[in-house]
Amino acid sequence: MSGDTASDDINEAKANMDHIYDQPDPRAYFHELRKLGYAIPGAAKPIFQKLISRLRHQRNDTVHVLDLGCSYGVNAALLKHDLSMPDLYDHWSEEDIAGIVSEELIASDRRYFSNLDEQADITVTGLDQADSAISFAEESGLLDEGLAINLETAPLPGEATENLAQVDLVTSTGCVGYLTEKSFERLLPALTKGRSPWIGNFVLRMFPFDAIEDTLTEWGYITEKLEGQTFVQRDFVSDEEQEQVLEQLHKRGIDPAGKESEGQLLAEFYLSRPANEVEATPIEHLLAA
Ligand SMILES: C[S@@+](CC[C@H](N)C(=O)[O-])C[C@H]1O[C@@H](n2cnc3c(N)ncnc32)[C@H](O)[C@@H]1O
Repeated sequence: MSGDTASDDINEAKANMDHIYDQPDPRAYFHELRKLGYAIPGAAKPIFQKLISRLRHQRNDTVHVLDLGCSYGVNAALLKHDLSMPDLYDHWSEEDIAGIVSEELIASDRRYFSNLDEQADITVTGLDQADSAISFAEESGLLDEGLAINLETAPLPGEATENLAQVDLVTSTGCVGYLTEKSFERLLPALTKGRSPWIGNFVLRMFPFDAIEDTLTEWGYITEKLEGQTFVQRDFVSDEEQEQVLEQLHKRGIDPAGKESEGQLLAEFYLSRPANEVEATPIEHLLAA
């Protein structure tokens, strides 16, 4: 949880998934979320890939990604390899891994991922408050570096600041709401020490993005929302969850008709970039095929 009262209230409208976020391996996470059709990392993949490709051309170098709320390295797996969410669901529910201990799974995943082709010249640093998920993501080789920290409640440790100046792209899926402007306030001094990175957040429509946007503005960023597009995060757990989320949307003045009222949580995409870069290439041009 964020420790921020406003977003904690909104978070309470959603089912609590804390029990699957900090396990020694991702099997429970994928088992539970498969049932709900959790899809946002897969929906985000083509957008993040476009941004990575743009940055790769612009900077002519390896693109360094920081994934916020990275969990077991889900976005890293999708962005580094030719894998989809259904592939990951299948991989972590195979019968032959059902009885093995986490150490064995980590060793076999390390071999599995290192034998896959890398699709993009990227490194991925992952930040998550869940120590065990970060350990898994590092030990399986999905993350190049893991930061097991909660910036809602504590400052950025000194040793984490140096590498963050290299970051070209900050990503997040399923994470804003848990993470508020507090985490961004603590990250931005380190992130903007070098060339300021692009920051791409997929945000559930029930969560306002204004406070994070305001913080980013103070650091010279302009935020654009990708208009006219919503992205499926997952199915509702229950009618009760749906009702509570619809109530939050109504409170925000958002009409859920034909959207969340159909049974799924939906996210929107916000991209924040230094002002001069937004003026040169607005988001629609940047993400055009
Ligand atoms: C819905 S999961 C999303 C994980 C991953 N990004 C994905 O889309 O599969 C939310 C993640 O946010 C993490 N999280 C929650 N509160 C956090 C905080 N204060 N700081 C960092 N991570 C947090 C959880 O541990 C969890 O891994």
